[in-house]
Parts: sequence; structure tokens; C-alpha cells
Amino acid sequence: MPKPFYITTPIYYVNARPHLGHAYTTIIADVAARFNSMRNTDVFFLTGTDEHGDKIVRSAKKENLTPRNYVNKISALFKNLWPELNIKYNAFIRTTDPSHMAVVEQILQKIYDSGDIYYSEYEGKYCFGCERFYADRELKNGRCPDHETEPEIIKESNYFFKMSKYQDWLISHINDNPGFIRPRRYKNEVLAFLRDPLEDLCISRPKSRLKWGITLPFDPDYVTYVWFDALINYVSALGYPDGDLYKKFWPNAQHIVAKDILKPHGIYWPIILKAAGIEIYKHLNVHGYWNIQESKMSKSLGNVVEPLDLKKVYGLEPFRYFLIRDMTFGLDSSFSEDALVHRINSDLANDIGNLFSRILSMAHKYFKGIVPEVDPHVEQELERGLEKYALSTINVFEAEMKRFAFHKAIVAVWKFIGQMNKYIDVTAPWVLAKKKSSKKQLESAIYNLLECLRIISGLIYPIMPDTAKKMQKHLGLDPEKPFYMLEQLRSWKSLQPGTKLLKSIAMFPRIEINKDTLEKMEERSSSKLTADIKPEIKIEDFTKIDFRVATVLRAEAVPRAKKLLKIEVDLGEKRTIVSGISTDYAPEDLVGKQIIVVANLKPAKIMGVLSNGMLLAAVDGEKCTVATLDRKVKPGTQLS
Ligand code: ME8
Ligand code: MG
Repeated sequence: MPKPFYITTPIYYVNARPHLGHAYTTIIADVAARFNSMRNTDVFFLTGTDEHGDKIVRSAKKENLTPRNYVNKISALFKNLWPELNIKYNAFIRTTDPSHMAVVEQILQKIYDSGDIYYSEYEGKYCFGCERFYADRELKNGRCPDHETEPEIIKESNYFFKMSKYQDWLISHINDNPGFIRPRRYKNEVLAFLRDPLEDLCISRPKSRLKWGITLPFDPDYVTYVWFDALINYVSALGYPDGDLYKKFWPNAQHIVAKDILKPHGIYWPIILKAAGIEIYKHLNVHGYWNIQESKMSKSLGNVVEPLDLKKVYGLEPFRYFLIRDMTFGLDSSFSEDALVHRINSDLANDIGNLFSRILSMAHKYFKGIVPEVDPHVEQELERGLEKYALSTINVFEAEMKRFAFHKAIVAVWKFIGQMNKYIDVTAPWVLAKKKSSKKQLESAIYNLLECLRIISGLIYPIMPDTAKKMQKHLGLDPEKPFYMLEQLRSWKSLQPGTKLLKSIAMFPRIEINKDTLEKMEERSSSKLTADIKPEIKIEDFTKIDFRVATVLRAEAVPRAKKLLKIEVDLGEKRTIVSGISTDYAPEDLVGKQIIVVANLKPAKIMGVLSNGMLLAAVDGEKCTVATLDRKVKPGTQLS
């Protein structure tokens, strides 16, 4: 029996609602967990929320709530979202759980007693978004690479963890354990970072500055740095140091994170474990970002996509399929509804959906919906080829899923679908059905195709569990028995002749792109651009915006779009701007008006038209009013 499998997601900060990025990581973990249950493995899947630290206190203040009430509210949003996405975790940890806090104190004390924590004064550049100090070389143009804000200089006495002492050990550990950090690009990134001397880690915050945290067991005037607290969730959730779950699952721990938190997981965490005398986790699996028009989707940039919106429009399983298929694990991927619709139509409606209903319809047409018997004597090279292909698909699928190359596992399954279509073309059941003498060949062809569908229904289970179940039901399989165990899938010809099949259905309806669906997409994408919570900014940030007066030269409706106008303006030079105001303005109403434009906004394609700037308008509920000037000025004049 394979070793127990322990999989974790990051515990998400409760400073904003969950978005597509969080949904992706958690769905990936669910897929990995479900895949391991196909291998007859005991699985433990942990997710949760990260609730201490300055960032949380600030967000609570903005909403006029105490930190405690605030974290309860947002943590519940995460916890309630996961079942909506059919994510079956085993435990949901919160860093405010008393049992977690006790383990953090215990590990801190242990490391303190061993002499790896010391007290000292420090001055450094601190990013409040990341809740950590930055070395100059890590900054991009003097700014935090993640939040694009300038760090603040902070000087104070604190406790430090002797990470430097473990630098050489960590380098050897990474080199001696292939796949410890994967894919390889992230292993290389960590090793590159370790080429420079590692600085000790500041693991405390004075209570004079921050109270919302876990008090250091050896100094009541300090709380624990939020990352030192958060990482420990992975062992505290299992009942470290002597819980049964801990003993069973920790030796096979695997984490999933995106590249934003590679350093805490690839450097701090193994060193904390080493210093605390705890076994090191087995694999750190690192994925890239979901981007929107080349920027990372994130709460601080306000360009987030709500997973539940997409579920409502496209259905949960197509959405899950898209996320897993369209991102190469480890690389960035750019999100668009266009891409999602394209995937659904080509891979789901066309490929798997058509194949399924085609085979089922033939079985009904030729055999009244009963699985036919096969005479082994009529089976030929072609059938043996199909069997071989099926078995090798299962092997490739297993190997790719094991190493977190999910999209490759899917590609293998879809190649098999292609192979089945070829088998249909070559055997041509509709021709066989015309002659009495080829009845046996027809039985064999339909049987083999149904048998392949049985395998397909099992292989899609981790990604689309409900679709898998529906397929199984249509194939007359016993719903009480799990039908997706790899061992069972490998047992060729286990579909029982005589089984009654259900009538064929369209598993994935095609999504028609028409005026109506386009309008809705357009609405969702424009609402994405108006973040409701705006962060406080500094005057330097404000002065970066190039507001200019522009005179409207021409305007026309964007074809196929409901609200969009394509507007040509003069702002010292000619520009095209796309804006969603056509319900309130006819093109001719605008010509000659002087409007206010953000001239240095990164150009973006909206419904196929490149928009080079953005006009300002007051949006009050449904109605939109364009901002104009009360005196004429020269086009291109700057506003300040
Ligand atoms: O970092 N694309 O929490 P967090 C892909 N509390 N994944 C994304 C994403 C995007 N655009 N945006 C977010 C924290 N994610 C800490 C973790 S763990 C001990 C503490 C996902 O709320 C991705 O998994 O900022 C990323 O690593 C995580 O959310 C960051 O979540
Ligand atoms: Mg983050």
C-alpha cells in the first residue's frame, strides 16, 4: 500500500475575500488529494487561514471591527467557499486556534532553549504588505516586488533566529533530495538566493507596535512574527508532537504554494524544522500566478475574479477543468473568460462530451442500451492496440499526477479520447451494422468503446468528480462502489456484458457566444476594474497618474458590445479610448466635449479594440456621467 499522503495549501490571509488565485491553489490540492485516493492511499488535506499580524489589524480597523470579530468574519468566507467548489479538505486550521498557538509557543521555546534565538537591535526596510524586512537586493527599483510599494525604515530591538547557521545544511538538503522544491526553476531560484550569505530572521514584533499575535513564551513584551507563527500550522494541525495524525502523515508532507511565498517555504520553514528537531517536509510544489492583462491578480491591485461568479455562469466542473488544464503547473497563466469559453467548447463539449454521447447513442441504437458480449476470436491488432493505449494512458496519467504536472495528465487523457475517435473512424460501426455477418465485430467495437469510457470516467474523477459519477451512472456501474481506483481502471474488460446503460445526454452543453453572453462578460470584466476597497496612497503615487484634458473628435459604438463606445480624442496627440458609457451617451453627444483622461494607463484590449487611456466618469448606481470642464482649455493640458 502506498505511503500516506499529506497535502497542504497556504493558509490565506484574512485581509480580503478569497479570489480565483486562492481557489486555484485549493482546487489543485483537492485534485491531488482525490488522485491519491485513487491509489488507495490514506489522504489528509489541510487548508485554513492566517489571522495574526499588522496587516489584519489594519484591515479590521478599516471595517470598524475588532481584530477578533474581523478574522471570524473573513475566515468564514474562505471556509464556506470551499464546499461550493467541491473541495473536500480534512481540516481547516486558523492561527487563532488555541491548540495552534500552544504549539507555536512550544516550538519557539524549544529553539530558544537550544540557543538559536537571540536578542539584538536592528534597522531595516520593512514592507507592511509582506510583513517582513527586505534586503536592498530583493527590492525592485527600491520597491517591494510584490506590492510595488516603498518599504518603510524601521529600527527596533527584536529577537532573531539564527538562520545563517543552517545555510550550508539547507543547500545540501536541497541538492541531496531531488524534487524537494519543484518544478526545478524554483529549486534553482532558492539555490541562487542561497549563494549570498543568509541573514538571520527577525521573529518578533514589540507589543508597543503590534499586539495581535502570539506572545513570545520567553518575553511577554513581544509577539511572534506572523510568518514564524503561520508556517507552524502545518504541524500543529496534525497534533504535533505526538498526535496520531502527526505520526502518520507528517513524514510524507507536501506543500503547495505560489511563487510569492517561495522564500518563507523554501528557506525559513525547512530551517525552522531543522532547528526544532522536526523531520523536514518531503516536497514543496510551487505554481505561478494567474494574471489579468499581465498583472498578478491580487487583492492589493483590485483586479480579482470571483470564483463563484464563474461557477454560476459556466458550472463548477468546467471551471475546475479550465483552471487545471490552462495553467502549466509552475508557470504563469493569463485569465480571460474568452479562454475559458474556448476550453469548454473544444475540450468538454466537443471532445469528451461528443465522444460520450456518440458511443452511448450507438450502444442504444445497435444493442438497445445493453452492454454487448464480446467474442475474443474477432478481436484483432486494432483492439489490442486500443487496450495498450488505454493502459499506457493510465500509467502516464499516474506518473504526471504524482509529480504535479496536472495539465500533462489531462493532455494524456485527451490524447486517448483522440485515439478512441480514430478507433470509431476505422471500425465504422455504422457500416458494420448494415451487415448481419459483421455483428460480432460490431459487438466488439461498441464493447471496447464503452470499456474505454469506463476508464475515462475514472481518470477525470479528481478534476470533475460529479461528471465522473454521472458518466459512471450512465455506464450502469454500481454507484456504491468507487469506480475510480487506478487498480480497477487497469483491469481491462471489467465492464460486465448485459449491463443496462442509461440514455445518452449532452454532458457539457456548448456555450454560444452571442450578443447576450458577450454583454454579460463585458459587465463582469468592467466591474473587475472598479475595486470597492481602495488602499490609502501617498502623494508620490498620486502624482504618477497623468490626468489630461482631451477633446472628443469622434465616437462610435463597438460592434457586438452593449455598453462600449470607441472614442477618438485629441490630448495633444490623437488617441483611442474605449469606455462603457453608451447606455448614457449617444456618440454624437460626446463630440466636441472636453473630458478628463488618465493618459498613462497601460493600454489594454477591450472587446478587440485597443484602448489607450481611460476617461473619468461618475458612476452612480446605473447612471454614468462623464466628467467635463467648466471652461475650455488647450487639449493635452495636465490636471494636478
Ligand atoms: O501569503 N495566482 O497568504 P495570501 C495564483 N498567509 N495563486 C494565487 C494568486 C494568483 N494571482 N493570488 C493568490 C499568504 N494566490 C500567507 C501564507 S502559509 C504558511 C502563509 C494563492 O492570502 C497562492 O497560493 O497572500 C499564493 O501563494 C497564496 O494565494 C497567497 O495567499
Ligand atoms: Mg499575498
